[in-house]
Amino acid sequence: MNLLKALNWRYAVRKFSDEMIDESQVQELLTATRYSASSYGLQPYHLLVVNSVEIRQQLLPYSMGQEKVVKCSHLVIFAAQTDIGDETVNRYVDKASIVRRVPLENLQSMADHFKSALAVKTASQKQEWAHQQAYIALGNFLTCAALMEIDTCPMTGFEVAGYDEVLGLAEKGLTTSVICAIGKRHPDDSNASLQKIRFDHDEMILTV
Ligand SMILES: Cc1cc2nc3c(=O)[nH]c(=O)nc-3n(C[C@H](O)[C@H](O)[C@H](O)COP(=O)(O)O)c2cc1C
Repeated sequence: MNLLKALNWRYAVRKFSDEMIDESQVQELLTATRYSASSYGLQPYHLLVVNSVEIRQQLLPYSMGQEKVVKCSHLVIFAAQTDIGDETVNRYVDKASIVRRVPLENLQSMADHFKSALAVKTASQKQEWAHQQAYIALGNFLTCAALMEIDTCPMTGFEVAGYDEVLGLAEKGLTTSVICAIGKRHPDDSNASLQKIRFDHDEMILTV
């Protein structure tokens, strides 16, 4: 499907069918998401795929009645790291050194620059920054899913504390940013036929 057609085809699914998305397609979508851009390239988040229906049932009381967290093919949690700082940069630089076959000492000034950029942020600004990066991944995930004709519903209608508790995220140094159910739209989903509400080109795009 071409890009604009895919973006017009996608919508936030209210009701998924029982159909499962092929595992290889899910993995391809996750790989595409892993390729997302991020500030300084630091990727301060993880993607958690909740396959266990039992765990999804435990999440339901924290999902504002949104049964689709259980009744979907796959549920993906975008979880931001909570401890942003020098270690975030060290992890990236270690990886860069291996991938690009560059000695660590050659990456030192870049690492120092990244560390000082993070160091001036308050704890809540660092957390906000990490959430922003997770949302970039979400945007990419939604677009790529649409191109693959996989249906989605991104959600912030859930209780973060409940999700973090059920998923044991604090122990992993993570907190839930946003979640996304994927699957196939149910034939009865009336949202599928709704006209998209988007501001017109001139209302949205300003030129100076
Ligand atoms: C960050 C984010 C959070 C959202 N949270 C929910 C949600 O909790 N439940 C829901 O049904 N839809 C949710 N949506 C879907 C939006 O309501 C939907 O994308 C928007 O109304 C535009 O409609 P469309 O995506 O169907 O074109 C969310 C979308 C985004 C991007």
